[in-house]
Amino acid sequence: MAQQGSRKAGSLVVVGTGLKVAAHTTLEALQELREAEQVFYLVTDPATAAWLHRVNPAAATLEDLYAEGKFRGLIYRQMADRIVAAVRSGRRVCAAFYGHPGVFVNASHLAIRRLRRQGYPARMLPGISAEDCLFADLGVNPGDRGCQSFEATNFLKARRRFDPTSELLLWQVGVLGESRLHAGGIAKRPRLERLTTRLRRYYPASHPVVLYEAASFPACDPLVRRIRLDRLPAQKVVPMMTLYIPPMPQRAPDRSVLRWYEEG
Ligand SMILES: C[S@@+](CC[C@H](N)C(=O)[O-])C[C@H]1O[C@@H](n2cnc3c(N)ncnc32)[C@H](O)[C@@H]1O
Repeated sequence: MAQQGSRKAGSLVVVGTGLKVAAHTTLEALQELREAEQVFYLVTDPATAAWLHRVNPAAATLEDLYAEGKFRGLIYRQMADRIVAAVRSGRRVCAAFYGHPGVFVNASHLAIRRLRRQGYPARMLPGISAEDCLFADLGVNPGDRGCQSFEATNFLKARRRFDPTSELLLWQVGVLGESRLHAGGIAKRPRLERLTTRLRRYYPASHPVVLYEAASFPACDPLVRRIRLDRLPAQKVVPMMTLYIPPMPQRAPDRSVLRWYEEG
């Protein structure tokens, strides 16, 4: 066992490939991908996988750890195990995940935490997430009214408190309550009904919401399905979608703060 703080031969840099083939990978991420002795990757489309193999022939997918019916938590731990083992063998490792590698990705954080505890250098570079694409495609500025982001199952399970006068993003609605992997699955209707019932406490039935899927290829448009909130349970919600719920009308402003503008 390494002593805390000591530096060993192996190292890890976690990078994101964004959502659009090659185009969303930052220059610093590309450099790490090129210079690594071993690249592990988890991406959603074969074009990005093929591109990664061209960037670095020592690229290997983590997708083989997925199996029908397998617990998601186990898959993520095994991904981290594989990354950690390669670093411990002394290699310079780059692990690439689609989107931002630290946004709704467990394996990346787990691997970094474990390696740091064991004295290996391990860090993460930011990437372009689904949320970043949504801001751009739907014209949402999180600075205007604030923005809250929740994992959909966690939102219900933990009875998360939120402000309906701010933007609300719910991730992983397509796998609501799914602890195991099921290929090609869509959200179960009774669970969407439960989510809609919760949201109806704060928004009217006719409140407009958007099922959003960012484009994967430069020439393609994103999928933007605008529906009324009460139509959500009838939708085919796939795992790659994010649910965007625009804010309710703003509360009357705090006049004492408004006066600050006059004071300058
Ligand atoms: C495991 S998370 C990975 C997120 C990814 N690391 C990121 O930074 O965007 C999967 C969730 O991200 C969102 N997501 C992934 N791809 C998306 C896309 N193309 N468009 C919209 N949301 C997407 C969905 O909410 C999906 O359930």
